Amino acid sequence: MNFSNVALVVALILLTETKAQNPKKKPAPPKIAKGQCCDEVRTLKVQVANLTSILEELSRKQETDLINVVRQIMELDKQKQQLDNRVTEAESKYSEVNNRVEIMQLQTLQSATQTSSDAIYDCASLYGKSYKISGEYKLPKDEFLGTPELSVFCDMETNGGGWTLIQRRKIGLTSFKRDWKQYKSGFGSVRGDFWLGNEHIFRLTRQPSTLRIEMEDWEGETRYAEYGFFTLGNELNSYKLFIANYSGNAGNSLRYHNNTNFSTVNRDNDKCVDDCASLRKGGYWYNCCTDSNLNGVFYRYGEHKKNTDGITWYGWHGPNYSLKKIEMKIRPVSFQP
Ligand SMILES: *[C@@H]1O[C@H](CO)[C@@H](O)[C@H](O)[C@H]1NC(C)=O
Ligand SMILES: *[C@@H]1O[C@H](CO)[C@@H](O)[C@H](O)[C@H]1NC(C)=O
Ligand SMILES: *[C@@H]1O[C@H](CO)[C@@H](O)[C@H](O)[C@H]1NC(C)=O
Ligand SMILES: *[C@@H]1O[C@H](CO)[C@@H](O)[C@H](O)[C@H]1NC(C)=O
Ligand SMILES: *[C@@H]1O[C@H](CO)[C@@H](O)[C@H](O)[C@H]1NC(C)=O
Repeated sequence: MNFSNVALVVALILLTETKAQNPKKKPAPPKIAKGQCCDEVRTLKVQVANLTSILEELSRKQETDLINVVRQIMELDKQKQQLDNRVTEAESKYSEVNNRVEIMQLQTLQSATQTSSDAIYDCASLYGKSYKISGEYKLPKDEFLGTPELSVFCDMETNGGGWTLIQRRKIGLTSFKRDWKQYKSGFGSVRGDFWLGNEHIFRLTRQPSTLRIEMEDWEGETRYAEYGFFTLGNELNSYKLFIANYSGNAGNSLRYHNNTNFSTVNRDNDKCVDDCASLRKGGYWYNCCTDSNLNGVFYRYGEHKKNTDGITWYGWHGPNYSLKKIEMKIRPVSFQP
């Protein structure tokens, strides 16, 4: 609609209103001739009618436009809602799966710890519950033994399985030159290089236990040493080592460390004037000093024959050959595969 048309409409409206409001007043004398007047009025009326219809159409159109816009917004809202729903659904499914896994684990643990004779406190008891795949397991905290939850690595294959690893050397990035506190609580990652911790080893070996040490050299050969009996004293007794009944093909190189306290760089309990933990750069049952040094320095191929502070086992490769891989593992003497 153009401006002149609007002006026309307004003028017309004013005219009719004036007429209606002043019915008794004498109308102002028409300034134009009658025929001209009526023709113009007619034209104006037609225009008004047209304009009205245009206006109506416009407002109808606006209304439909508005309705369309609202509809589109609602549609978008709906889509957004559907997306939100899908996200929520996916999230709840995910957490449901997670929950189910956690509940399954919890049920396993609860059914497993119902009676104390059934308690899971090492890989052998897990094996007894038909967990026969080697890998990382979480031992539940045990109220009876007063022990915390503990991550362990279980060897469920070697010689019947049921072995709880207490030490591993294979990657060589974790330093084993650690202090008393660290050797006490353990360090490293059970999937890689680690020491389980003297306190845990002490606790686990309160049941009569067997120790098995597996080793590999840089030529890919393997040997093992097994002790039918293995236990540690408590911290007050400096985690003193007690071993008996050697068997294996690597040599009895732990015997020299039998009945010896544990030493670290900051706790010298060895039977020597020298500070063996500092000389051999590890934590171990240093006598004066070593016939083996399984927590010594990891030397890579090429460097492995040059030092006396490496991962040594004198009974196989002598005092200056650092081995490539070590695993120390324990299981109850009573274990039946
Ligand atoms: C009014 O509308 C009719 C049809 O809608 C059209 O033929 C006519 O020319 C219009 N008149 C004016 C003055 O706009
Ligand atoms: C060593 O083995 C013998 C024979 O099997 C056994 O009688 C003895 O009790 C074992 N020693 C220890 C400390 O377990
Ligand atoms: C081992 O440690 C205990 C106390 O922790 C101590 O009484 C004993 O004398 C130590 N033995 C040796 C050989 O150092
Ligand atoms: C370790 O010492 C004890 C005595 O304290 C002995 O009975 C045992 O046989 C020794 N172990 C080894 C492997 O010699
Ligand atoms: C390693 O030990 C052997 C004997 O045990 C010795 O002859 C050799 O010199 C040693 N090598 C080094 C690099 O110390």
